[in-house]
Amino acid sequence: LKQKWTDAIEAAADEAALEEVRVAALGKKGEVSLKMRALGAMSPEERQNAGPALNALKTELTDAVLARRAVLAEAALTARLQAERVDVTLPPRPRTEGSVHPVSQVTDEVIAIFADLGYAVAEGPQVETDWYNFDALNIPPEHPARQEHDTFFMHREPGDNRPPHVLRTHTSPVQIRYMEEHGVPCRIIAPGRVYRADYDQTHTPMFHQVEGLCIGDDVSMANLKWTLEEFFAAFFGREVKTRFRASHFPFTEPSAEVDIQCSWEGGALKIGEGDDWLEVLGSGMVHPKVLAAANVDPERYQGFAFGMGIDRLAMLKYGMPDLRAFFDSDLRWLRHYGFAA
Ligand code: PHE
Repeated sequence: LKQKWTDAIEAAADEAALEEVRVAALGKKGEVSLKMRALGAMSPEERQNAGPALNALKTELTDAVLARRAVLAEAALTARLQAERVDVTLPPRPRTEGSVHPVSQVTDEVIAIFADLGYAVAEGPQVETDWYNFDALNIPPEHPARQEHDTFFMHREPGDNRPPHVLRTHTSPVQIRYMEEHGVPCRIIAPGRVYRADYDQTHTPMFHQVEGLCIGDDVSMANLKWTLEEFFAAFFGREVKTRFRASHFPFTEPSAEVDIQCSWEGGALKIGEGDDWLEVLGSGMVHPKVLAAANVDPERYQGFAFGMGIDRLAMLKYGMPDLRAFFDSDLRWLRHYGFAA
């Protein structure tokens, strides 16, 4: 009997088969159990012999089942691991992954560079009152500069007595808003979207500027030049000469347009070498009327401001010739310049 069942246990090929064997031998109606039940009908002498033998058999078979079960479980696990093994030589599934847009990338770089120079980041609304966008910046209603800005005006129904609003044409209104709210001295940049009705290879109706504003007791044009040169060196990764050309903005006096050194050798634009010049920004000493409009005492404080195109910086840094492509969301274009996987 023992041989029969130990053989059956060893022969069980999987855990289900083993369980069948166990039930057949040790289950309620199993052969061994039935034999034990039959003990009751035996004479005491017979029982004395058969009893302990059957008990020992039961224990042995139970142990054998446990041992076999452990072996089978181990084998099953090994088989599963084998079957589920990862084939690292299989080609991966293609992944689609977002990436940073060149405008965002350049904005972040500009913020980081000016942060090192002690500049905080300020923001203002894109839908702006004509007072902040123009009047406070010394551009009164009849000023020709208003026409030059190709302004988008917000529609107003007759009887609407809210002040006229425009899509801001530059980031300069943030100068006023910041000084009104936080006072001076101050050192901020204000990056953001601006809008002008203009469209060609280098103009889109929405584009990005970064405004700079530094006001203190004795902040000068020399500080402006140093700051900009420091910025361009960090941004382009090399020393870049600047050229200040006298200009006019209603909100600065004196005003200067700033060019950076470049070369066009072989048709390729290179920044920071050669003896050509490329205009990159407008700047100047903040006009006393602008300080006064922001409740700052122009007798006590002075400083500089500048505004430059972020998209234009990106075009120069990455050699992207057409601004319109910036806003087409074309992955092939982004990939071409290494901005998407
Ligand atoms: N706001 C000007 C423009 O958009 C740039 C500028 C900013 C000029 C600050 C001077 C000072 O053209």
